[in-house]
Amino acid sequence: MRRSLLEGLAGLGLALGVSASCQEQLYDYIVVGGGPSGIITAERLAEAQKKVLLIERGYGPTVATGSNHTLSWNDTLTEIDIPGLSAGIASLDVWKEYICQDTPSYAACVLGGGVTVNYMVFVHPPERDFENWPQGWQWEDVASAADRLYERNPGSTLPSADGKHYDDGLYSVLSNFFDNLGWSSVDMIDQPNEKFQVYSHPAWNIQDEKRAGPVRTYLPLAQQRENFTLQLGTKVIRLVRSGSQVTGVEVETASGSRQIIRLAQDGRVVLSSGALSTPRILFNSGIGPRSQILNAQKANVTLPPENDWVELPVGSNLMDHPIFSIEVKTNGTWGPLDATSVLNGTDTSSIDLYERQNSGVLTEGKHRAIFFTSNVGSDGITRYYQGSCAPAVTGVFSITAYMTHGLTSTGVLGMDENGNTFFEQSPYLQTDGDVDAAELFIQQMVDAITAPSTGLTLQTYTNTSAILDTLTNGIHYTGTAKMGVDDGRKNGTSVVDLNTKVYGIDNLFISDASIHPDLPTGNLQAMVMIVAEAAVAKILAYE
Ligand SMILES: Cc1cc2nc3c(=O)[nH]c(=O)nc-3n(C[C@H](O)[C@H](O)[C@H](O)COP(=O)(O)OP(=O)(O)OC[C@H]3O[C@@H](n4cnc5c(N)ncnc54)[C@H](O)[C@@H]3O)c2cc1C
Ligand SMILES: *[C@@H]1O[C@H](CO)[C@@H](O)[C@H](O)[C@H]1NC(C)=O
Ligand SMILES: *[C@@H]1O[C@H](CO)[C@@H](O)[C@H](O)[C@H]1NC(C)=O
Ligand SMILES: *[C@@H]1O[C@H](CO)[C@@H](O)[C@H](O)[C@H]1NC(C)=O
Ligand SMILES: *[C@@H]1O[C@H](CO)[C@@H](O)[C@H](O)[C@H]1NC(C)=O
Ligand SMILES: *[C@@H]1O[C@H](CO)[C@@H](O)[C@H](O)[C@H]1NC(C)=O
Ligand SMILES: *[C@@H]1O[C@H](CO)[C@@H](O)[C@H](O)[C@H]1NC(C)=O
Ligand SMILES: *[C@@H]1O[C@H](CO)[C@@H](O)[C@H](O)[C@H]1NC(C)=O
Ligand SMILES: *[C@@H]1O[C@H](CO)[C@@H](O)[C@H](O)[C@H]1NC(C)=O
Repeated sequence: MRRSLLEGLAGLGLALGVSASCQEQLYDYIVVGGGPSGIITAERLAEAQKKVLLIERGYGPTVATGSNHTLSWNDTLTEIDIPGLSAGIASLDVWKEYICQDTPSYAACVLGGGVTVNYMVFVHPPERDFENWPQGWQWEDVASAADRLYERNPGSTLPSADGKHYDDGLYSVLSNFFDNLGWSSVDMIDQPNEKFQVYSHPAWNIQDEKRAGPVRTYLPLAQQRENFTLQLGTKVIRLVRSGSQVTGVEVETASGSRQIIRLAQDGRVVLSSGALSTPRILFNSGIGPRSQILNAQKANVTLPPENDWVELPVGSNLMDHPIFSIEVKTNGTWGPLDATSVLNGTDTSSIDLYERQNSGVLTEGKHRAIFFTSNVGSDGITRYYQGSCAPAVTGVFSITAYMTHGLTSTGVLGMDENGNTFFEQSPYLQTDGDVDAAELFIQQMVDAITAPSTGLTLQTYTNTSAILDTLTNGIHYTGTAKMGVDDGRKNGTSVVDLNTKVYGIDNLFISDASIHPDLPTGNLQAMVMIVAEAAVAKILAYE
């Protein structure tokens, strides 16, 4: 392998501690990816007086971050801001622009990452969600990181400013159903550890009646700091390395031109590109299984010399929550929000209530109730379940039933010769324990729903096997650059150590869902943000 001229110059610049061009900035930290993890990481680094560049391949989704996709009836707000419009987010004009085209399943290529396009369900993880994490990452170790997150971005089960729940018909139906089963009503924010036979009004990532998340709750704090730079529309292709040191990153700008952005001496890179994209950057940098690095080579990426390749199990240990869909007919008269009439401004009652009183159904997300429970599988392992319930059509609701914490299946993420990541092995129901537990859970749901006098009827998928056949992706990917003490270079399973530093590279860290060694009980985003807070503290403390 021949090292490129630019790479050589970058290495020389580092060695001399000077920059090649006097205008060029050198950064203490380059953070790659402006999703929830990247924004939190970059903001905390800037707060610690580091010179930080945050590079995001997409653009901003809010007016404050440069979006011009404003509503027909309010030019300070975008479709992304309005909680009520999240229910039909995949039908919005911006969806196609914001969804990545080079990943095997949904991931967002927009500032804010998945948190910009998700359904805003915000599950404070129970303490036990860290039980399989390594030493230093148990709940008692990360509780202060959770506090730091919740101080800025707490989530809400009651987002309407007038303190009322709107469109509560489905919640009434479900509370009746669950009360009859002997389940308990909880507030999932106040009682995060209660995850057995409980139901709650949904907890959402909403603040000040708008979609919250780090774009709103952290980024403005970073932007007040002179040492913080956000660069949008810029895709990182690979790390520029000199042996075990990263010296910079090669980027592709919106115009398609390539540049190298360099680190200051003793600078560091943090990858926060998400579980389906961080592996691509690693493969493109000569880090990962040899077969994947060879695909990067076929994709014409400039690789480091072969003896600098670091063989790590990047892409293995992919996990996700499988989803089963249950559709239930009731005698209710409620239905989903008519997003078209909100978008075109004709639903004046909802819009007025929202604009004048910060209240009403537009302050709420898609779901109307969320339940949790668990069972013990044939292998003796306790597995958890989350059911997110939303109106589908009039009187009919759908349960998005996730299998969650306790799952034992893993898959493998690879990369093809065009640089697209893909599932080499599915992460779903790969173990007998997971399969048995899924059947048991769905059978119990079917029995409960079809019991006499519930007033509920299964629709579309009317028996256990039909429901099991609805299996789809949960979009809560983790594990593709797993954290742990068993060094992946030595036949272990881990890609990063307990400081989130990549094994075999001196100044490369990862902070995003890729490093999570296990799945939490609920939707992923709150967990991701807690882990980002904990990770950046480790990175800052690491000498
Ligand atoms: C459609 C959808 C619905 C979801 N619903 C929910 C929900 O309701 N509740 C919940 O808790 N979770 C939900 N999730 C999951 C949650 O949003 C993700 O788990 C979370 O966003 C992951 O955060 P992350 O920081 O690991 O990565 P991401 O959010 O994926 O952020 C990665 C960022 O890096 C950028 N990037 C990628 N590659 C590069 C590159 N080469 N150069 C520069 N930038 C790059 C991307 O543009 C993106 O901004 C959903 C996800 C999706 C996609
Ligand atoms: C900005 O970054 C430089 C380089 O790390 C540092 O010396 C300086 O103290 C920082 N300034 C502020 C205000 O954070
Ligand atoms: C909106 O922004 C996009 C990208 O930033 C740009 O291409 C487009 O021309 C803008 N549209 C208007 C109407 O300003
Ligand atoms: C890589 O380069 C070869 C030779 O120029 C070309 O045929 C191929 O299409 C390129 N691959 C990609 C992914 O750009
Ligand atoms: C707005 O959308 C609704 C559909 O919900 C439609 O009935 C109505 O005609 C539309 N009005 C305008 C002005 O586009
Ligand atoms: C837009 O909505 C905001 C808040 O919801 C409100 O304060 C503002 O007055 C609205 N702007 C217009 C032009 O109606
Ligand atoms: C709808 O069903 C519920 C539960 O079975 C019942 O209590 C209620 O009276 C029914 N309402 C109507 C209008 O039939
Ligand atoms: C379950 O439902 C499916 C689809 O409706 C049907 O084809 C199948 O025969 C049913 N299975 C059983 C065991 O009833
Ligand atoms: C590598 O680890 C696997 C199990 O994790 C084990 O079966 C195998 O023997 C190990 N190989 C070496 C060379 O240590």
